[in-house]
Amino acid sequence: MGRVLTRETDPMDASEQSEFELTAKDFKYIQWFMHKSVGIYLGDRKRAMVYGRVSRQLRRLGLKRFKEYRELIESDDNERVHFINSLTTNKTDFFREYHHFEFIERVLKQEWQERGEQSLKIWSAGCSTGQEPYSLISSLYVSGILEWSESLSILASDLDTMVLEKAKAGIYDDESISTIPDAYLKKCFVKGKKQQDGMIKIKKGLQQFIDFKQINLLDDWPMDGQFDLISCRNVMIYFDRPTQEQLIRRFYEYLKPNGILFLGHSESVGGCSDIFHHLGHTIYVKQ
Ligand SMILES: C[S@@+](CC[C@H](N)C(=O)[O-])C[C@H]1O[C@@H](n2cnc3c(N)ncnc32)[C@H](O)[C@@H]1O
Repeated sequence: MGRVLTRETDPMDASEQSEFELTAKDFKYIQWFMHKSVGIYLGDRKRAMVYGRVSRQLRRLGLKRFKEYRELIESDDNERVHFINSLTTNKTDFFREYHHFEFIERVLKQEWQERGEQSLKIWSAGCSTGQEPYSLISSLYVSGILEWSESLSILASDLDTMVLEKAKAGIYDDESISTIPDAYLKKCFVKGKKQQDGMIKIKKGLQQFIDFKQINLLDDWPMDGQFDLISCRNVMIYFDRPTQEQLIRRFYEYLKPNGILFLGHSESVGGCSDIFHHLGHTIYVKQ
C-alpha cells in the first residue's frame, strides 16, 4: 500500500490515499520545486489538493509512485510544464472585480485623454483562460477609449500553457457568460452557431488587440517599453512576501510615469508603499 502524508483531519479519502505513493519527502520536494520555479508557495494545508492533482498525472502516465514522476520532471521539459500546469489555480471570471473596469471607464479614460496619451499599453499578467484581457478590451471599446487611441495593445500572459491555449481560442460557455453585463455582451461578443451553440466568442476586431504570451513572472520578461496599466490580480496571493515585493518593484520599472497597477481583492503593495500611491480599493499609481 502506498504511503501519503496524512493527518486525521485530512479531507483525503482513504481509497484515494492508497492509490499512489506520495511521501512526506515527496511533498517537501513539490513545495520546494514550485516555490523555486514559479514562486508559488504551497502550504502544508494544500497536501490533499496536491495529492489529487499529482495523482491525475501519475494515472495518465501509468506510474505508481511520485518518485518515478520526479525523475521525469527533472529530465523532460514538457513533463515539467504539465506538472506545473497541474498545480496552478486558474479561477477567473469575466468582469471579475468590476470596480477596476469602472475605474478605467470613469477615471482613466479622462486622465489618458487629458494627457493626450495616444499609444496605450496594457498588461494582464496572470491572465489565466483569458476572461481578464477580454474584459479589459471590452471595457476600452464600450467606453470609447479604443476609438481615440491611435495605438492600443494588450499583452496577456500566463505561466500555464494549457490556460493560454484556451485564452487564445477565446470560446466560452454559458456559465462564463453569466458575469458579462448586457451592454458588453451585445457590443463585444458573438454567439456560437451549430456545434458552438450556447457558446460565445469575443469579436475578431477586438481580439486582434491582444497578444497572448507565456511568461513566468519570476523569469526575465521579454518585452520592451513601459505600460500605462498593469493588471496582476489574484496571482501574487500564491507567492510568499519576498517574492511579492520583488514582483511589485519590477512592475514599478515596467510602468510609465503615473502608470496604474491593479491587484486582486486580497492583495496589496505591502512594503512597497514608498513607490506606489494607493488610489482606492486595490488600485495603485506609480509615484
Ligand atoms: C487565479 S488566476 C487569476 C486570473 C485573473 N488574473 C483573475 O484575477 O481572474 C492566477 C493565474 O496566475 C498564474 N500564475 C501563477 N504563477 C505564475 C507565475 N509565476 N508566472 C505567471 N503566471 C503565474 C496561474 O497560472 C493562473 O492562471
